[in-house]
Amino acid sequence: MHLSVTGTGYLGATHAACLASLGHRVVGCDTDVAKVEALSSGHAPFHEPGLDDLLRDGLATGALRFTTDPAVAAQADLHFVCVGTPQRPGSHAADLTALDAAVDALAPHLDRPCLVVGKSTVPVGTARQVAERLRTSAPAGGEVRVAWNPEFLREGHAVADSLHPDRLVLGVERDEDDQLLREVYAPVVAAGVPVVRTDLATAELAKVSANVMLAARISLVNLLAEVCEVADADVADLTRILGLDDRIGSLFLSPGLGFGGGCLPKDTRAFAARAEELGVGAPAALLRVVDEVNMRQRARTIDQAAAMLGGRVGGARVAVLGVAFKAGSDDVRDSPALDVAATLQARGARVRVYDPRAGVNAHRVQPALEVADGVEDACRDADLVLVLTEWPEFAGIDPVALLDVVAHPRVLDARLVLEPDKWCAAGWELHALGRSLGRTMRGSASGSGSGGG
Ligand SMILES: NC(=O)c1ccc[n+]([C@@H]2O[C@H](COP(=O)([O-])OP(=O)(O)OC[C@H]3O[C@@H](n4cnc5c(N)ncnc54)[C@H](O)[C@@H]3O)[C@@H](O)[C@H]2O)c1
Repeated sequence: MHLSVTGTGYLGATHAACLASLGHRVVGCDTDVAKVEALSSGHAPFHEPGLDDLLRDGLATGALRFTTDPAVAAQADLHFVCVGTPQRPGSHAADLTALDAAVDALAPHLDRPCLVVGKSTVPVGTARQVAERLRTSAPAGGEVRVAWNPEFLREGHAVADSLHPDRLVLGVERDEDDQLLREVYAPVVAAGVPVVRTDLATAELAKVSANVMLAARISLVNLLAEVCEVADADVADLTRILGLDDRIGSLFLSPGLGFGGGCLPKDTRAFAARAEELGVGAPAALLRVVDEVNMRQRARTIDQAAAMLGGRVGGARVAVLGVAFKAGSDDVRDSPALDVAATLQARGARVRVYDPRAGVNAHRVQPALEVADGVEDACRDADLVLVLTEWPEFAGIDPVALLDVVAHPRVLDARLVLEPDKWCAAGWELHALGRSLGRTMRGSASGSGSGGG
């Protein structure tokens, strides 16, 4: 089939490349000229394992191309819309400006029957508004149908998640649109992936609802962790006990600095804002607390860092390991790690950050932060080391070797990636977010100031 994908960011670029790999002719369209140029040369402008290979394959066979011209995209028979839907400035609601602009740019060129398929995460009710917009502005008018096909991919696993999803959700109004989308995803459907055909509103709700469930779970486990801290209980044992319960499961059950990124925070807020508009504001208050508990983890991390520095943040040298919102990604959108790093810097600390992938993006967003090119470089002469993203390589840091690098062997592990026994045995003062204060580990060199040099 001939398909277009409008909006070629984390979601759209991956979607376009994966569709081409499924055998379709695909044109990706974006307003960002630099992004279109990068994608056209076979390079994703962000880190996503396997994506560059798919891009190059698609470009080489001619199955895939990119453009900034909506008229070119409009020549396809089916149009995916993957533009961003960030939080609206000054509000918790979703900002649909890019979605409206993308639809408005495509509409004048839609002069024959076709299907427009939303993949962006949107407030329930958006698909109907898009359909109305197209009905009044596309030359083909009512012949332009709308479907919603939410995307559940995870950054860092986006290619695998797109080609081998847990489920396909097809929000359609007609059998023919259901059939068309099953053809688009024919190899995925043939592989036995569950397909849920539903109405537009349920499909729109699917992605935000999944994110709201995950966000609530993370904040709940962070509440448990905070209680563990003051009750002298062990949150690692507690979550293991909970995870062994089949009804609860063990995934997304690790306490820490909380959720961030381009999806969970804004989707949680947008869901609550939409629920309020729909007259369901009272129960949606639950999500405001989820958000507050999440933001509280950042404040707790900053407070703990200040306490470990004896209250003297100004002038302290702080090493931050990890600024991506999660491991496996270079995305720093609403990153809790970057937020903590920038706040400590604003309070007068000299912060040096290192991230295996997100250093460039961190510097673009927070130019005042010094970006190091490795763990040792970041930690040189540090008074405190913070681990703020759960990159697996941080678990492999040799605490003995790092003693010679830092000024003071103090580490705050806000993602529970370090082995406390190993670090304490090496002589580090270690605090792990969520571990009880009584269990805060002090090594033999703690507070001696002799770890540097
Ligand atoms: N990133 C994810 O992991 C993920 C997963 C599932 C769903 N989503 C949802 O997908 C949507 C896109 O997210 P993203 O992370 O890819 O965002 P993104 O910011 O990486 O990409 C959005 C792209 O849309 C482009 N754009 C904006 N206005 C445009 C217009 N008028 N015409 C053409 N292109 C335009 C931007 O230039 C950008 O390249 C959001 O609704 C998000 O919630 C994201």
